[in-house]
Amino acid sequence: MSPATKSASKSAHKSVPKKATAQAPQPKATTPSADGIHPGSLLSITQLSLEEVSNILALAERLAGEPQSKHATLLENRKLALLFYESSTRTRTSFELAAKSLGAMTTLVSDKSSSIEKGESLKDTGLTLRALGAECIILRHNASGSPYLLAKHTGLPVLNAGDGMHEHPSQALLDLRTILSRLGKKQAATDTTLDGITVCITGDILHSRVARSNALLLPRLGAKVILCGPQQLLPPEAVDLSTGITLERDFDKALQQSQVAMMLRIQKERLAGMQIDLADYQKQYQLNEDRYFKHAPTAVVMHPGPMIRGLEITADIADGPSSAIEEQVRNGLAIRMALLVRALNGGAA
Ligand code: CP
Repeated sequence: MSPATKSASKSAHKSVPKKATAQAPQPKATTPSADGIHPGSLLSITQLSLEEVSNILALAERLAGEPQSKHATLLENRKLALLFYESSTRTRTSFELAAKSLGAMTTLVSDKSSSIEKGESLKDTGLTLRALGAECIILRHNASGSPYLLAKHTGLPVLNAGDGMHEHPSQALLDLRTILSRLGKKQAATDTTLDGITVCITGDILHSRVARSNALLLPRLGAKVILCGPQQLLPPEAVDLSTGITLERDFDKALQQSQVAMMLRIQKERLAGMQIDLADYQKQYQLNEDRYFKHAPTAVVMHPGPMIRGLEITADIADGPSSAIEEQVRNGLAIRMALLVRALNGGAA
């Protein structure tokens, strides 16, 4: 993992939570930022100040708490394109259902059944979607940085739905909503919100955009993040991602310090010839009942999915009372509704 940009300092992101907006966003000319990126875009979690994170959390909380009829026309007839070059269940479905529950029209373009198969470039695909009236593009792509390229070429708000091994910012936001809810905290983000909380992220850190986005966000709220895994899947440079991060190879020791245990799948599709001894991995890094009750019996258990039951996590833990995994999925809907409103509201949530 190459060192990523360190997160902005806590002091630069003092949180002043604002009341969530209620008006339907209207089509309007939006001033692009100096780099030509639409301010409604979400390309990296690092672009959001803690105030903006708070606004997104507050809007998600409101949208999730009110009857659907209250926001059924908030994005009425707005046109959104879901552009997916990689498989997805949770992210794609939740963005689509979020859009539809706000009254928007969606279209799905997948690399498997479109002119992408014939060699059409990302830029030309984006320009085509824009010409057809798309007002926002939700992009999942296997190349890190591709959302920047698409945002730059189209001028549209682009929401990064996972780019290669880089980032998955909406996942970090839904994970934050889940952590705050499970810890009984207000849906807001200040630089002390997660003081005293340790989150261990365990598994295939090297290939994980979820780990990266969480490691870039959680320390800014005061959390300590422990990255845990074997050398092959957790290179020492990962510690440079942000302040507030430590590395621990011993999963038991990591668990003993943690209030939240976030497990990751080994991304077989990105191993590129790397050989992993799965039996040994399971022995050292699997979250199972024995390990959980011995080392972290009250920790909140999280996993972004998809899970490989029996490898990184056992079914009794994944389905047990400490598991927040289904809650994470549900929170994806609320967070993505808020991100769509923000995208079509010129960047204001
Ligand atoms: N967490 C996540 O990104 O899941 P999907 O790949 O199913 O979207």
